[in-house]
Amino acid sequence: MGLIIRPAQLDDAQRIWEIRNEPQARAVAANSDVIPLAQHISWFENKYFKPEGDSCFVAEIDGKVIGYCRFDSEGDHYLNSIAVTSSMHGKGIGTILLGQSIKQLKTDKPIHAEVRRYNLASVKIFERNGFKKVSEDKKNIYYQLT
Ligand SMILES: CC(C)(COP(=O)(O)OP(=O)(O)OC[C@H]1O[C@@H](n2cnc3c(N)ncnc32)[C@H](O)[C@@H]1OP(=O)(O)O)[C@@H](O)C(=O)NCCC(=O)NCCS
Repeated sequence: MGLIIRPAQLDDAQRIWEIRNEPQARAVAANSDVIPLAQHISWFENKYFKPEGDSCFVAEIDGKVIGYCRFDSEGDHYLNSIAVTSSMHGKGIGTILLGQSIKQLKTDKPIHAEVRRYNLASVKIFERNGFKKVSEDKKNIYYQLT
């Protein structure tokens, strides 16, 4: 399949924006609005390309970015956010993207994930990568990798 997992570059911003704005990704996003491209690029640059910034990885096949995996620092832990373009779902890419990104992140900090209860694909990829359920409510299951 020629799948590569690598740190995101600034010129991946537009492709990440496209994937983030796909209906399935927006449906589970904390902010489900369509974000304008210019706003996204400036946010992306500030968040992931400044010293001490957060970390973002991408999955690429044949030079085309097909998914992203973000780790946003929230005090003593990271909060993860991941998406794969919908035409590539169910091929094992999300599982590999998450696992390889965690390896490349090389952190001792716990990684958290908030998963919608109905999002069974997401539940699978976190559990397959060793995340443990720490709590749940009506809306979400809260996972942690330590
Ligand atoms: C969650 C997401 C990243 C998973 O990526 P993916 O590449 O499809 O993941 P994988 O193929 O590695 O694994 C998904 C598993 O869930 C299964 N699956 C997919 N949809 C499912 C559903 N509706 N019900 C049950 N299982 C489902 C797949 O068959 C696969 O399992 P299998 O390997 O046993 O066949 C992808 O679905 C996505 O981008 N969704 C939109 C954004 C999102 O939900 N992000 C997570 C926010 S916490």
